[in-house]
Amino acid sequence: MGTATEQQVAPERSASPWWRTAVVYQVYLRSFADSNGDGIGDLAGLRARLPYLSWLGVDALWINPHYPSGGADGGYDICDYRAVDPDYGDVADLEALVADARRLGLRVVLDVVPNHTSDRHPWFAAALADPDSAEASRYHFAPASEEPPNNWRSLFGGPAWSRTPDGRWYLHLFAPEQPDLNWRDPAVAADFEKTLRFWLDRGVSGFRVDVAYGLFKDAQLRDNPGAYSPTLFGHGPEQAMTWNQPEVHDVWRQWRAVCDEYEDAMLVGEVCLADLSQVALYSRPDEMHQSFSFRLLKSPWDTAAFADGVQTALDAFSQVGAPVSWVLGNHDKDRQVTRFGGGELGTARARAAALMVLALPGSPYLYAGDELGLPQAVVPDEAKTDPIFFRSGGARAGRDGCRVPMPWNASDGVGFSPDGSAEPWLPIPADWDRYAVSSQVRDGSSMLTLYRRALALRAAHSALGSGEAVVSTQGDVLTVRCTGDGEVVRCVVNMGSETVLERTSGSVLLASAARVHDRAGTIALPPNTAVWLLED
Ligand code: GLC
Ligand code: CA
Repeated sequence: MGTATEQQVAPERSASPWWRTAVVYQVYLRSFADSNGDGIGDLAGLRARLPYLSWLGVDALWINPHYPSGGADGGYDICDYRAVDPDYGDVADLEALVADARRLGLRVVLDVVPNHTSDRHPWFAAALADPDSAEASRYHFAPASEEPPNNWRSLFGGPAWSRTPDGRWYLHLFAPEQPDLNWRDPAVAADFEKTLRFWLDRGVSGFRVDVAYGLFKDAQLRDNPGAYSPTLFGHGPEQAMTWNQPEVHDVWRQWRAVCDEYEDAMLVGEVCLADLSQVALYSRPDEMHQSFSFRLLKSPWDTAAFADGVQTALDAFSQVGAPVSWVLGNHDKDRQVTRFGGGELGTARARAAALMVLALPGSPYLYAGDELGLPQAVVPDEAKTDPIFFRSGGARAGRDGCRVPMPWNASDGVGFSPDGSAEPWLPIPADWDRYAVSSQVRDGSSMLTLYRRALALRAAHSALGSGEAVVSTQGDVLTVRCTGDGEVVRCVVNMGSETVLERTSGSVLLASAARVHDRAGTIALPPNTAVWLLED
């Protein structure tokens, strides 16, 4: 593996801002690299691994929440927004990380969680102690009564209202340990502005905004017309009272204005709405820079589903002039290899899907470990931590299986922690040495090598990642024709079960499988394989 000094940092593409085409690597901090042997990933561990990310060829990293937390939802229940959880280090460690990253040409994006705090946040403690306190009006409380104020449900299961010790109700659209903030109270907005500036002043390049479609609720707290279905791509009109209230867009306008005061700060919103044209409204020119396009996260391996996932996003975001932020994996969904069928089949498909996503114009988000082809891990129930598992009484497996620590070395207990240290915070499956970075780095056919090659080619060819894309399907074959600076690269994906022959005027730039045969104007593309063709 190359060292930091050997790195070539890709030059900025023309005058276009960095985030429009940035490849962003999502670091699940707790599971990335443990520097001090307590079994928990930390900032110093991540800092020591920055050369790996630079070698891989990404442009930025987004770090899952690093704040002091109540620990009820993987750090998404924050107690102090302007501090670092001692498990992960301190503010000086974060500053050192940002400085090292910049030297390697990598930008650091933090996670910020404005929809709710931890129930251990000092505001909530004050609100519980005194119903008439200023802090109480920063949350949603309702007077003691038999029934909760409305029919809203928690996304993690069960009602969205719980009782305080003195019998009042309070709202939590996620776990009871995550009381929702009342954004109609101006003190809330003022405090978040302080938080943004606190981190921007320390050199970070922006924020991934958690639950950005939340924050405001129906002012009269009216019943929702229906119940959320986990099979949808996101929330629709059945959840009209809890999400996507028009007032929220003003918050993003204010946050954008704050970011515009800094050189390269950007915002990417988590907006889980079924209608992508609604999602795109969150990245209008004066709002956030990007909002995630999640549709491919739930698309089955099928040309129609993939073509729809790509085309709908391209159409929706072009309406507002924003790039598409493509997501194939994150810390909330089962790993791709497993979603696509597991084992060799799932791996072949995940390789092909990676080539498709990395060809598309816009900003792809890569989830740590996907470049190693990690499958969804089986986490024993007694080791699970996800509130989804507990609140569903075990009916839903929860998200622990995609949050298992990274395997770095095939020896030393996979090298997540220094030799001879504590057990990792989630158990690492016994056979994960085969996925370790050290096992893949010199293997020309590994998933890691495929990602690295694809990222290098993406940086070198303007048709890839920054051009125009036209999507078409023919039977089981999906084609994305990418053009940029007079160059044409076609990404052809065979999603069927038979080998297909594809005519080309050019040559194979990269293939997701070794069995692609490239002869005299024709290539033979096996099932579950993708290829990048550089056309003459
Ligand atoms: C987002 C996060 C998820 C978290 C939830 C509540 O969906 O990605 O991990 O549980 O928000 O903060
Ligand atoms: Ca540690």
